[in-house]
Amino acid sequence: MMANDLRSDFPAISTPAQADGPLKPSAPNIYLDNAATTHKPRVVLDAESGFYRDFNANPYRSQHKAGIRATKLYNACRDMIATFIGADSDEVIFTRNATEGLNLLAYSWGLNELGKDDRIVLPIYEHHSNLVPWQMVAKKTGAELVFLYPDDDGLITDEEIKRVVTDKTKLISCAHISNVYGCSSPVSSLVAAARSVGARVFLDCAQSVAHMPLDFRAMDVDAAVFSGHKAYAPMGIGVLYIKRKLMSNLEPFMYGGEMIDQVSKLTSTFQDGPQRFEAGTPNVAGAFSLVSALDYLMQIGWGTIQASEHALTKQLMDGLKRIKGVQIIGSTDAEKRACCLVSFTNDLLNTEDIAYELDAAGIAVRAGTHCAQVLHNYLKLTASLRISPCFYNTSEEIDRCLQVIEEMPQRINRRLISSLP
Ligand code: ALA
Repeated sequence: MMANDLRSDFPAISTPAQADGPLKPSAPNIYLDNAATTHKPRVVLDAESGFYRDFNANPYRSQHKAGIRATKLYNACRDMIATFIGADSDEVIFTRNATEGLNLLAYSWGLNELGKDDRIVLPIYEHHSNLVPWQMVAKKTGAELVFLYPDDDGLITDEEIKRVVTDKTKLISCAHISNVYGCSSPVSSLVAAARSVGARVFLDCAQSVAHMPLDFRAMDVDAAVFSGHKAYAPMGIGVLYIKRKLMSNLEPFMYGGEMIDQVSKLTSTFQDGPQRFEAGTPNVAGAFSLVSALDYLMQIGWGTIQASEHALTKQLMDGLKRIKGVQIIGSTDAEKRACCLVSFTNDLLNTEDIAYELDAAGIAVRAGTHCAQVLHNYLKLTASLRISPCFYNTSEEIDRCLQVIEEMPQRINRRLISSLP
């Protein structure tokens, strides 16, 4: 199955790419910003509207037939997510996104379990969503933030883990895949190091969920998060996995309807399990759409997805390496990339200018610090450009993108010359 066969599944990008043609109102002609968010296949769009058309009712509360059906549907979604991530259903909490999951962990676990002299270990490449909540925890509890630094390839070595993880470490929280390097954190080494000092491991799978199978039980992490919108599902639905044993001791994060057990005038008791953390009416349409998106990925198969994305990554890297002035961030070996994204700078061109030029050619990429300002500061960069294709992109689109970047200096010169008086 090739990109062209799957393209028609995505209404926003299903017309053939015409870089010089008129832009569609909904999407650029060539969409290479999938690490920020993916487009949605028709089955997902149908699931979202289908819920409101055929199933709409408030789960867990309304005891009429439609309410019971909505409850059954929502519970079935939880069961299917559990199967997808190697968990039990009562370990799956629906959230808005990965950020909300990480905040829940910071508020419910971090604020209650950490104190002065405790250390939180984070790779320096963390997205702000897995840094700023821990800064808040450190400020309020007196715990200390300590950082793991990658090598030039963007990889954290066993020596670095040994240097940083000590018996003061109470938590290692890390991105499964860095949204700038595109490389994987060494999860098994981090889990082993954490276990040796009695620390917890939380994993941010925002950048991995759409690119590889996840099995949190096998990984033996204590908690993990992801957003649906980076995996072909709508924005506003995410998943937080928490090991049952850890979840049973956690304070609620948000308070309100349906997370309670008994409520009196001055005090309340709370439900056990995921519902304790799902205050208010949940996003059932989102959960249903997320399941449809993951089912869609399963129909394509990880083998097909990974073969296609690996080929695009290699083509992109090889092409970028040939362009004068380009400096790829992290490894230049496609084999060391765990997902389909490449960030880089160009000694000859300003990052924002390249993004602007690509946009003018109908090609969407991301420029800036990608919510990883600390990594950019560490690398002494003000910004970088990130190109993130996925299985629905074609090699022609990568070629076109590379061509626009390569020809940019000449185009700038021509414009300068033609603007001379
Ligand atoms: N976290 C998303 C990104 O890296 C938005 O682009």
